[in-house]
Amino acid sequence: MKDLADVVLFDVAAGIAKGKALDIAQSSPVDGFSINLSGSDNYEDTKNSDVIIITAGVPRKPGMTRDDLLGINLKIIKQVAEGIKKTSPNAFVICITNPLDVIVMALQKYSGLPKNKVVGMAGILDSSRFIYFLSQELKVPVQKIKSFVLGGHGDSMVAMLGATEVDGKKITELVKEGKISKEKLKLIIDRTKKGGAEIVKYLEKGSAFYAPAASGVEMAESYLNNSKKQLPCAVHLNGEYKTKDIYAGVPVIIGSNGVEKIIELDLSPEEKENFQSSVKAVRELFDAAKKIDPDLN
Ligand code: LAC
Repeated sequence: MKDLADVVLFDVAAGIAKGKALDIAQSSPVDGFSINLSGSDNYEDTKNSDVIIITAGVPRKPGMTRDDLLGINLKIIKQVAEGIKKTSPNAFVICITNPLDVIVMALQKYSGLPKNKVVGMAGILDSSRFIYFLSQELKVPVQKIKSFVLGGHGDSMVAMLGATEVDGKKITELVKEGKISKEKLKLIIDRTKKGGAEIVKYLEKGSAFYAPAASGVEMAESYLNNSKKQLPCAVHLNGEYKTKDIYAGVPVIIGSNGVEKIIELDLSPEEKENFQSSVKAVRELFDAAKKIDPDLN
């Protein structure tokens, strides 16, 4: 819908992919975009893609955590990785499937694609949710709020309060001035962590669509247009943030070479500690994944 590229929707259920592609294509005269859209269950039809966005897998049911999806989605992602490796080994791959950080790491290992070309979408969505909730509470337009939510895409995610600004003012200042109470801020952070589950509870079948899609597309756009935007994404860390050989959410620059740079923010001691415990949670879940599939060792 942003005229970024031709799109092939892929699903093992070909009818769903074809039907949705046709439905979206039929909105092009109204919305004024002109790309080729098609649906398929054949990897050959996606051959030599520039970007692949993966949402394949089972979504949560009410009451489930993202981690509960590990076993089933690991199997699905293994098949997807093999398909991509054969047909689009040069693609920039954006993973959205949960549990995000572990699945994107497994995807990189299974596919063997370069680490700078395999990234996970989480930070943009989590930051966007946090900014939206702050905007609702403080009655400030979303455009005037800046923030980052980093770490793993789970209950351990970390809202970076040191980097959170409302209309040019640090959120910590607003707390001091009594514009927002510590308790209220804590509730908003908690709502952000559970932002996905809140929607799952309403939908009963399926999880969030629109905000995750917008977030994934922003990453694709920065890659395709070489805009070198700074975006919080789940990427492979190799010593940055004192963290090695694991995927976690940090700010990165995305351009035509994929992840071109990892930005190291100056974290407060508390943020550092929270970030490390979030990474620890991801590591533990990856260890569980290795037990399920020894190929990940
Ligand atoms: C969510 C899913 C996409 O947070 O993880 O809604």
